[in-house]
Amino acid sequence: MSDIKKSKNYKPQTNLIHGGTKRSQFGETSEAIFMNSGYTYDSAAVAEERFAGDAEGFIYTRFGNPTTKMFEDRLAMLDGANYCYATATGMAAANTALFSILKAGDHIVAGRAMFGSNLYIADSLLPRFGVASTIVDGRDLNAWKAAIKPNTKVFLLESPTNPGIELVDIRAVASLCKENNIILIVDNVFATSVLQQPFALGADIVFYSATKLIDGQGRAMAGAVLCNDTGIADQLLTYIRQTGPSASPFNSWVMLKGLETLDLRVKQQSANAKIIAEFLHGKKHVAKILYPTHESHPQRDLALSQMSGGGNMLAIEIIGGKTAAFKFCDALDLVLYSNNLGDTKSLICHPATTTHQRLDADFRAELGITEGLLRLNVGLEDVSDLLDDLDQALAALD
Ligand SMILES: Cc1ncc(COP(=O)(O)O)c(C=O)c1O
Repeated sequence: MSDIKKSKNYKPQTNLIHGGTKRSQFGETSEAIFMNSGYTYDSAAVAEERFAGDAEGFIYTRFGNPTTKMFEDRLAMLDGANYCYATATGMAAANTALFSILKAGDHIVAGRAMFGSNLYIADSLLPRFGVASTIVDGRDLNAWKAAIKPNTKVFLLESPTNPGIELVDIRAVASLCKENNIILIVDNVFATSVLQQPFALGADIVFYSATKLIDGQGRAMAGAVLCNDTGIADQLLTYIRQTGPSASPFNSWVMLKGLETLDLRVKQQSANAKIIAEFLHGKKHVAKILYPTHESHPQRDLALSQMSGGGNMLAIEIIGGKTAAFKFCDALDLVLYSNNLGDTKSLICHPATTTHQRLDADFRAELGITEGLLRLNVGLEDVSDLLDDLDQALAALD
């Protein structure tokens, strides 16, 4: 296999097309899928050298595969990271990031407004293994500060959050981490590095559900965890090698091809979402909308300072609670009802009865997940068709 030119000096859009490509002896244009679990060696001595780490080369797909490596290298270029490891799902990436570096006796502080499974690991699973956790309002810098203990090892946050579209000041939290020798882990699923670069803002580890915008077409599941520090990278790789949350080569290939259009899709979907936010704001039956860069968002200035666009996700609060929210969703024709997100197809869901159903009702209320709240994944359709659809569904509430 031959490495394509090291393209570090190309622009991000170019790297998303060519970055990480390795061609086999056949010179294929599109990247090949290496759907193999093991590798053969020219001799027993070569195998010995590879296992000792003295020679380059793949050993076993659980911790290394040419197609997966192409995906990892391409994503690392986009994020400005030295290391990237693909995983089977976004949660496998979250789990790898946390379990590879934490041990019994450590303490973690996490933002409370997070995807439910992130929160579950932080507040329920880690404590079972002797890692204490404190959950804070991620918007409040003082709360992060006050939660620090001598044994605090990790801060975990998501921004913008799912589904409340809250923001965390990544730069400020990162500098708190630096002062206190704490590792900052950021879930960058909603923005992707097209709109928000957590490493440039001071994060130590970034992870993704590639299932979302990186695939972007609702086809396959995968995740990725990235870092710059060699010591952390060793811990991540050892964890993946020994416990096996690895990505399938086929799914890595789907994600690799997804990256080629990521920039275009995210920017266009974000542009569509901005128009929709503007359209819905102040409409009859709409109590409020939450979109990071909209003038009505309480953290708009922060959004403008750490994101280059608002993203494709927005929250809509329908007046009339669950009954009205359900009626609105059921009246939609083009926008599909689904709990997935990051798709080119516009998708809507009611978090209180789906993704966040299991949360305690009081906690849901604290997070702003009311009975009237809907989460909209804005897709790549012509925005005028989406506006017409949303408009006629609102009219159904008259
Ligand atoms: C913000 C966020 N992080 C992580 C995940 C988990 O990703 P996956 O479903 O690929 O495991 C999701 C899934 O919805 C998510 O929305």
